[in-house]
Amino acid sequence: MKNFSNFTDYSRKEDLHFESKAVHGALGHDPFSGAVSMPIYQTSTFRHRALFDSTGFDYSRLSNPTRLELERTMAILEEGVEGFAFTSGQAANMAVFTLLNPGDEVLLSDDIYGGTFRIGNDIFTRYGASFTYIDMCDLTLLENSFHENTKMVYLETPTNPMMKVADIAAIARMAHEHGCLLVVDNTLMSPYFQKPITLGADIVVHSATKFICGHNDVLAGIVVVNSDELATFMHGQIKTHGNQLAPMDSWLLLRGIKTLPVRMERHAENAMKVARWLRAQEKVKKIFYVGFEDHPGHEIMKKQCSGFGAMISINVDSFETVKKILRRVDLVMFAESLGGTETLITYPRTQTHESLTEENRQRLGITDSFLRLSIGLEHADDIIADLDQAINGEP
Ligand SMILES: Cc1ncc(COP(=O)(O)O)c(C=O)c1O
Repeated sequence: MKNFSNFTDYSRKEDLHFESKAVHGALGHDPFSGAVSMPIYQTSTFRHRALFDSTGFDYSRLSNPTRLELERTMAILEEGVEGFAFTSGQAANMAVFTLLNPGDEVLLSDDIYGGTFRIGNDIFTRYGASFTYIDMCDLTLLENSFHENTKMVYLETPTNPMMKVADIAAIARMAHEHGCLLVVDNTLMSPYFQKPITLGADIVVHSATKFICGHNDVLAGIVVVNSDELATFMHGQIKTHGNQLAPMDSWLLLRGIKTLPVRMERHAENAMKVARWLRAQEKVKKIFYVGFEDHPGHEIMKKQCSGFGAMISINVDSFETVKKILRRVDLVMFAESLGGTETLITYPRTQTHESLTEENRQRLGITDSFLRLSIGLEHADDIIADLDQAINGEP
């Protein structure tokens, strides 16, 4: 094990509950000073005592003690082998896609986050990789979509924003039978509710900007891998691309992770209350929420997750109502992003999914009357009261 190997062995924490692991992280304290909050090691380089005699740290692009604590904490929480912290979810995904060689194909969820779509279509197609978008709920379609050159299956579950649920364990088996890697974007659930590696995934990616950070104040990305081989590859990516997370931002994430379990519980509790209220509104024509028993993915959610998360999408009766809601919301903020303390309402058509073609958006249901909500940690009654005046108030 590299770096800090002369200090506490973090594997001793395997028997702890998730909440304790989140609070105590990997080392959980600074081995040099005993500080119970891992310090922000704001340094670019590290002094060596003599030739072949160092602390194990050389240069912060390669590794930094604050970032390493975050990376190890995320590996513990996702039950993977090693973690890597990047400047954003986009940077994390870019690193994952560098596993591709010219000629390789990737099968992806059809309503994948717009930024992930752009990485494939705008960048890696220029280097000879191809990207096929399919409905991951349809396992027969997926089985029939593999080719000789398929190298990777990449999915979000639930998807953002249509909340489609994919069976991770079934897809992992299928991907491995075809000699492919399975990558799961676990941004919407966080490891508190869903651990894709335990279900067979090879790589987990996060926009850690969302629930991992949790406070709408940091951009970050995480990759956790399940093998030493993939870990070596990812080390090489960070070392070469220089896309590593800064010490200050790593510390902010560590701080956020300590409350991840309590935040996720309250996010989910609030979301259930808001979803029930939304469903009863005349102007809400359709609701996409994985916590409802009649959601097509509900049973798979119950099988592979321990909670339903904070995300709700809705179709309202008209574009006029959309405009009214986005103008009237007050406590709830009209803003892009999700997973933070504040409740946000997003218009995917021109925000998160503007990179898709209009035809694809229509096919998926990302229409001009479609809105996405990330339910925050305010009191549920206050969120509902604000949505009530926005949805049912005067135009
Ligand atoms: C599911 C998902 N994956 C990846 C990303 C990209 O992450 P970031 O904005 O941190 O670059 C986002 C951003 O919204 C996202 O929602």
